[in-house]
Amino acid sequence: MKLGKAEFSCPLANANLTTRFGVYSFVCIGIMTAALWYIVSKDLTKDMLDREWETTAKIVRAEVKWHMTPEDFKAEDLGAVAPKFEELLRQLVIMPDIVRIKAYNRQGTIIWSDEKRLVGSSFADNDELKEAFGGTVVVDLSPIDKGENVYERGSFQGLVELYVPIFSGDKKEVIGVIETYKAVDDFFKDIKRARAKVLIVALGGGLLLYLALFAIVRQASRKISEQQANLLKMQSELVASQRMAAVGETTAAVAHGIGNPLSSIRATAQLSMLDCGSQNGHDLAEKMQSNLQNIIHQVDRVQGRMRELLNFAKPLEPHPSLVDLNSLLREQIETLRSRFGDAGVSCHLRLDEKIPKARVDPNHLEQALSGLLSNALEATPRGGSVTVSTGVSAPSGQARRVNISIEDSGEGIPKENRERVFEPFFTTKPHGTGVGLSLTKKFIERNGGMLSISDGSSGGTRVEVAIPLA
Ligand SMILES: Nc1ncnc2c1ncn2[C@@H]1O[C@H](COP(=O)(O)OP(=O)(O)O)[C@@H](O)[C@H]1O
Ligand SMILES: [Mg+2]
Repeated sequence: MKLGKAEFSCPLANANLTTRFGVYSFVCIGIMTAALWYIVSKDLTKDMLDREWETTAKIVRAEVKWHMTPEDFKAEDLGAVAPKFEELLRQLVIMPDIVRIKAYNRQGTIIWSDEKRLVGSSFADNDELKEAFGGTVVVDLSPIDKGENVYERGSFQGLVELYVPIFSGDKKEVIGVIETYKAVDDFFKDIKRARAKVLIVALGGGLLLYLALFAIVRQASRKISEQQANLLKMQSELVASQRMAAVGETTAAVAHGIGNPLSSIRATAQLSMLDCGSQNGHDLAEKMQSNLQNIIHQVDRVQGRMRELLNFAKPLEPHPSLVDLNSLLREQIETLRSRFGDAGVSCHLRLDEKIPKARVDPNHLEQALSGLLSNALEATPRGGSVTVSTGVSAPSGQARRVNISIEDSGEGIPKENRERVFEPFFTTKPHGTGVGLSLTKKFIERNGGMLSISDGSSGGTRVEVAIPLA
């Protein structure tokens, strides 16, 4: 027989670990607290009631023993024993809450009561009375609506009937029953208060337990998420480094294969230019010279790109020494001076001469700054400017650091590309390699620094490098 699959989807199935734990443990601890409260308060109530009835019964028996004899319960002349019962009542009402008593003889007839109209009546249908004649103290908590309660109904509120069997001297025979009516409102108020206290303690304990467990699980869940994030990061780094290794091998092979022919092409072009130079004045020679110059320029570009790719795939162990970052920047800008000139872009330096030397790998920093300056130059239109500044800052709670800022007046990096520009091979340039920024970031971070990109003050891009001072 095939059983149909029950269609049940848990509403918390997609919730995170903390939420699921929060809800489940809340329900479990809630049920536990309620059960604990119910059991403890039930036991407490029973104990309090039992003790109350036992104590009352003991006092009643002691007073009866003191004031009466077993024969008094068998007396035919009820008037003769009445004073003794009067005295008994006087003694019993000293006990708070006892408002009435009735004395029964062995036949179940009322032989005395402070309600005189009942004396002589017999109530054979009273089950509690019958049970008390069996020898046990009987309590009736139900509303007083039996036949024998005809005079109590309406006169008293919140009464409890307590039947106390009275034994003969040898304790073998029940000679009568004293029924007392206790006003128990105050007593039940005490019970209510005790139950409320138990409830508060149970709720407080449950809440404390819940909060403690919740805090632990939340911490654990955060740790797990952190570890997951670390694992993912490590995984992607591993994949990236494997990819890099593959790129490195390919680039090295390609560089080896085309490096020498390229050098030969460049050398031949240079020789040919010299030959053309000896034929000054010829139009053809000038045209050839410009073509050869172009070949040399393109070969330089290809070699530059290849160097970039080889660098990108190389391991990046820094070899730090104390470096004057201002001098390094000046050298880099000097190297790029002709490119700035060709592009019609001006370069402004605002270097703080008081910045201390930083402990970094000079080659790494050189390549990083050269990449950033090239990017700024390439992004700036003719007539624009690139501003390079340095300074020292000490953010609160962090080490002092040297800041290098390179700001251009280009068109900036669109928000959607802000993160992607650091991805290897991401480029928006027709002839770009897309390795510059990712390599620069690696260089800076391996040397303990930070790289950040923001909007420039006049619409372009501002790239900031922060190098902590040891
Ligand atoms: N200063 C800048 N202004 C505008 N865009 C920039 C700047 N620097 C980098 N970029 C963007 O980041 C991309 C990646 O830069 P990079 O990694 O150096 O590779 P490439 O320069 O070969 O394109 C560039 O193609 C460009 O879109
Ligand atoms: Mg670049």
